[in-house]
Amino acid sequence: MPVLSWKCALGSGVVSLTHKKIILGVTGGIAAYKAAELCRLLVKAGAEVRVVMTAAAQQFVAPLTFQALSGQPVLTSLWDAASGDGMEHIHLSRTADLVLVAPASADFLAKLAHGRADDLLSTLCLARSCRLVVAPAMNREMWAALATRRNLEQLVADDVTVLGPAAGEQACGETGLGRMLEASEIAAALSGLLSAGPLAGKRIVMTAGPTFEAIDPVRGLTNRSSGKMGYAVAQAAAEAGAEVILVSGPTCLTPPAGVRRIAVESAAEMRAAVLAELPGDVFIAVAAVADYRVDGAATQKIKKSTDPFTLQLIANPDILAEVAALPDAPFCVGFAAETERLAEYAEAKRLRKKLPLLVGNLAQDTLGQDAAELVLFDAQGQHPLPHADKLTQARLLVRHLVTLLN
Ligand code: C5P
Repeated sequence: MPVLSWKCALGSGVVSLTHKKIILGVTGGIAAYKAAELCRLLVKAGAEVRVVMTAAAQQFVAPLTFQALSGQPVLTSLWDAASGDGMEHIHLSRTADLVLVAPASADFLAKLAHGRADDLLSTLCLARSCRLVVAPAMNREMWAALATRRNLEQLVADDVTVLGPAAGEQACGETGLGRMLEASEIAAALSGLLSAGPLAGKRIVMTAGPTFEAIDPVRGLTNRSSGKMGYAVAQAAAEAGAEVILVSGPTCLTPPAGVRRIAVESAAEMRAAVLAELPGDVFIAVAAVADYRVDGAATQKIKKSTDPFTLQLIANPDILAEVAALPDAPFCVGFAAETERLAEYAEAKRLRKKLPLLVGNLAQDTLGQDAAELVLFDAQGQHPLPHADKLTQARLLVRHLVTLLN
């Protein structure tokens, strides 16, 4: 039974950024302190980092901090008489491989969305020809504000890559969406974007999480699934350089950096979203799709009574089997959670759904856990992966996928 070599997949996900020229723009927000660690990680990965700070950013962290970490003078003004011919915004943006703004404040996102250029950072963002990545950080109400939503939509339409934000405790004492991603997560995402990873140029459509099948407007049927495995696979695929579209049922998870999430509820919505995102090179079905939905869900709340109550269920479409049977089917990867006889049931499922690769696990070992024990089934046989956290398992799965694609 071949066992995959797994040592080198256990790292942080940051691969080498040697000789990559990154402009790190820092705007005004408390998360500016995290940008110092980010600068250190990028330099450690081999990148040449030039830091540009807005006036507000300098209220939070001194330029000297970034100068010490990047080994380069920090640029703060469009009007710096000492900087050559006064065209620093043009020179900098011409030589950069990528501009990263982290943290990106609500104000700076608004500026970018409107193409304003009234300081060095906004001017070089407008003058650049390389990729622009932003890692927003702000109070949850500011993130939810309609104006910010509009600005974000515009930036995504303008091909700006948005990393995060994450949910959690905020500096203002409130809890919600708006925290900047951790420095290590941003660095890992950049290495995926900048390195010609083994999945560069590949489009991967995925499903994750449970589906929710309505009984009436307030009740429903669902499967037990945290979505953790699917989100880990999405992160690992993005780190390997793929374009990842994650069609996700209801979960509490934040989409991994660089991954585009489409939120759905029912199996029917999941199927429609997947088919709309195809064609792709790879389809990975991690979702725990409900096998049945309610025939004729009620449009009004069903009143409680003590009488016996019968639900008529009808089978949901099998999204994976349908995609695998398409004439221009992508390379399809399935998951199978079993409670017994894993090898027998998983291999039978792989053959029935005509899949080149199926990932099996024992449901009782995995459900809701942070670690997993997976076995890969393909035409060559079984490949058990070592017991490890889900992200490590996901990275090993992606490595195996790469070898099969090649
Ligand atoms: O539920 P089952 O064990 O058949 O799931 C196996 C694989 O098929 C999983 O990858 C799951 O995401 C996928 N699936 C699907 N649509 C369904 C049921 C399962 O895509 N309706």
